[in-house]
Amino acid sequence: MLSEQSAATVRATLPAVGAAIGEITERFYAGLFAAHPELLRDLFNRGNQAAGTQRQALAGSIAAFATRLVRTAPQDSEGRVASRPQDRPDAMLTRIAHKHASLGIAPGQYEVVHQHLFAAIAEVLGEAVTPEVAAAWDEVYWLMANALIAIERRLYEESGGDVWREWEVVERVRETEDVVTFGLRPVDGAPVRDFRAGQYVSVRAQLPDGARQIRQYSLSGAPGADVRRISVKRVPGGATTPEGEVSNHLHARVREGSVLELSEPYGDLVLDDAPGTPLLLASAGIGVTPIVAMLAHLAATGHDAPVTVVHADRSPADHALRTDHEAYAAKLPDASVHLWYEREAPAHARTGLADLSDVPVAPGTRAYLCGPLPFMRAVRAQLIEKGVAPADVHYEVFGPDLWLAHA
Ligand SMILES: Cc1cc2nc3c(=O)[nH]c(=O)nc-3n(C[C@H](O)[C@H](O)[C@H](O)COP(=O)(O)OP(=O)(O)OC[C@H]3O[C@@H](n4cnc5c(N)ncnc54)[C@H](O)[C@@H]3O)c2cc1C
Ligand code: HEM
Repeated sequence: MLSEQSAATVRATLPAVGAAIGEITERFYAGLFAAHPELLRDLFNRGNQAAGTQRQALAGSIAAFATRLVRTAPQDSEGRVASRPQDRPDAMLTRIAHKHASLGIAPGQYEVVHQHLFAAIAEVLGEAVTPEVAAAWDEVYWLMANALIAIERRLYEESGGDVWREWEVVERVRETEDVVTFGLRPVDGAPVRDFRAGQYVSVRAQLPDGARQIRQYSLSGAPGADVRRISVKRVPGGATTPEGEVSNHLHARVREGSVLELSEPYGDLVLDDAPGTPLLLASAGIGVTPIVAMLAHLAATGHDAPVTVVHADRSPADHALRTDHEAYAAKLPDASVHLWYEREAPAHARTGLADLSDVPVAPGTRAYLCGPLPFMRAVRAQLIEKGVAPADVHYEVFGPDLWLAHA
């Protein structure tokens, strides 16, 4: 519940905070990591920190939360601004909470973030931060933090409370030149908890310099199997960028018999496959991983409504999990497959980038997208043009979600 006075103050200061939020979050992270270097070494993704993407995600989410809170919040009979669940950017909170839960974020850490965030706000905005302004933004912070803490608590309860468990690599399959699938089983022999198709796990890797860096990988095997599978694409270095730390570490050093630390499965891009619902599953490149798990699930349950499968890749040889992708689709009673390759397209595929203009899309279709942002933007726009409801287009971003806050 945001008080009326705070709502007015937040509304009045939003432009100034919005304009300075990049600088605020930069100082916030500098202060946080100076006081707690272990957070940068063992919790935050130091590649994202170096590239600046996580900073943008945090800033974007707070600005979006505050904007929607003061823009839509109706007043109650006492003149206070009610913060009803439907007035919150719930999709954004759910996505962040799933990511946090996969990292093992604890409620007490919100105090630490609060301390450094508000110190940064005071530093950047100076005298503009009157006690009234500080109190108003404090309310916004804790509304958001408490909403996240509540979702995270529920997620931890559902997943049994353990954050990290050791898993042994029981199979290692080279899918393409730069993608490897790892099959994993719990070291303690405990049963493998089921996951919902589309979810991911966090992998915590011990790197040669002693840091423990965490990354997320979608589960690419069939739900219900007693081996958990992830398929990892090696991120190469560029002219000015280093090669990806964890993906290269997994490719270079992790073999059958190696042990990895994995979180329980999390993620809100999960398939809603109510009987009779037409589905469209669109992927590009390594974005195929959650889509293959979805197709495996649909093949196992015999989903009989139309399923449109769309995939774009550089070439058939680069198309990871291609055999599974096509085989699961072939098992469905009413599936159509549309493939695009930039080169070496076989007869049943097309050459070039994905273009859905002549792909029939059944009314009431629910769509699931995973791939690079330009691909997802283009597919989403074409689907909406074809009459798919924006609320029925779901997607996963393989990095900090910079799309959501601006959607
Ligand atoms: C929900 C989710 C699911 C995912 N599923 C999969 C999956 O199924 N398969 C898969 O392969 N990946 C998946 N990912 C991506 C994965 O989590 C990692 O992001 C990916 O493996 C790269 O990690 P890395 O440690 O190798 O690269 P990082 O070291 O994190 O580097 C990432 C990028 O940042 C750049 N960078 C690093 N340092 C700097 C610097 N100093 N200056 C400028 N740029 C820099 C790198 O060059 C690189 O391009 C998923 C991500 C999410 C969020
Ligand atoms: C209200 C407070 C918070 C907000 C608004 C917030 C917001 C976010 C957002 C938007 C993301 C990116 C999600 C995505 O799209 O992938 C994220 C990720 C993350 N958050 Fe938070 N967060 C908060 C509190 C915390 C706390 C208390 C911690 C623990 C110290 C924390 C640690 C992380 C980490 C480690 C990541 C992943 C970083 C990465 O992969 O680069 N967050 N958070």
